[in-house]
Amino acid sequence: MAIPIFFVLLPLLLLFMLPERAMPATLSMTNNCPFPIWPGLLSSAGTAPLPTTGFLLNPGESRPIEVPSSWSGRLWGRTLCSTDPSTGRFSCASADCGSGAVDCSGSGASPPATLAEFTLNGSGGMDFFDVSLVDGYNLPLLIVPEGGEPGGRCGPTGCLVDVNGLCPSELRVVADGEAVACRSACDAFGTPEYCCSGAYGGPGTCKPSIYSQLFKNACPRAYSYAYDDATSTFTCSAGTSYLITFCPSTTSLKSSGSGPGSGSGNNPQAVGLPLINDTMVFLQGSYSAGEMVVPMMPVVVLGLLWAVWWFL
Ligand SMILES: *[C@@H]1O[C@H](CO)[C@@H](O)[C@H](O)[C@H]1NC(C)=O
Ligand SMILES: *[C@@H]1O[C@H](CO)[C@@H](O)[C@H](O)[C@H]1NC(C)=O
Repeated sequence: MAIPIFFVLLPLLLLFMLPERAMPATLSMTNNCPFPIWPGLLSSAGTAPLPTTGFLLNPGESRPIEVPSSWSGRLWGRTLCSTDPSTGRFSCASADCGSGAVDCSGSGASPPATLAEFTLNGSGGMDFFDVSLVDGYNLPLLIVPEGGEPGGRCGPTGCLVDVNGLCPSELRVVADGEAVACRSACDAFGTPEYCCSGAYGGPGTCKPSIYSQLFKNACPRAYSYAYDDATSTFTCSAGTSYLITFCPSTTSLKSSGSGPGSGSGNNPQAVGLPLINDTMVFLQGSYSAGEMVVPMMPVVVLGLLWAVWWFL
């Protein structure tokens, strides 16, 4: 009897004697949009590659991606993708990565794209993350940290508003008659003022523009231009996992207790900054009645599936 117990205990003992292992973190992506999306992932130079760089996520589907400790990179959602039957080339109407395939294989999103950016286990053993509209906007996106240090100064960030509906015509990207993305002023006009380059290449000289303010008003916690750091970078202790939701519903956010005011990162400026600008949501709701259809979609689909099942 003594020998089997020894063999059971030995691995356990060894496990506790090992030096502290770097823990992988999980980025869980959920598609809450009523249409399919194709997330793309890009690792920063010099950081460990990921098991996937792009995949299909159908409505209602979730997929966890285990990322190595100290991973740094970005992810985004591609929309209206298809494979050209004659060339076999895969491409998307928004946030395409130009690889010609579902895997982005080291290519980034072509703007405009709403970006979720991460530097995990960075300086001081902290995770840094943000949602950026610096390269424009294509989809609403929410990041919610999970399992961070209790009471830690880390909180949700994102852009929950349909900026495509608010986008001025000079920035709007249209595909098949539908607004699918909203360009940044830098991308659309390319001037040093909007791009924070040349004489405007610093936090002291590059100021918000009327265009970046439009993004900021809609999404107060997201980066609206290159030097928008003070209110847009969030910080959790390393080892935190993150839930990333495309097209988050504003009601589920409120009921999960991660609504306005809960968590503000390490930035005093972000204190009290809401995730959703209620004024904006109201303004938007007043002219886009089509939005009401979105939350009903899963119900309609489930109803249809049930009807088909019943019929058969
Ligand atoms: C962070 O990285 C250090 C090495 O740079 C490692 O020892 C530590 O375990 C990592 N922390 C987590 C939570 O992965
Ligand atoms: C919300 O939007 C309104 C109208 O665009 C703007 O005046 C206000 O500053 C915004 N609030 C926040 C917190 O960004």
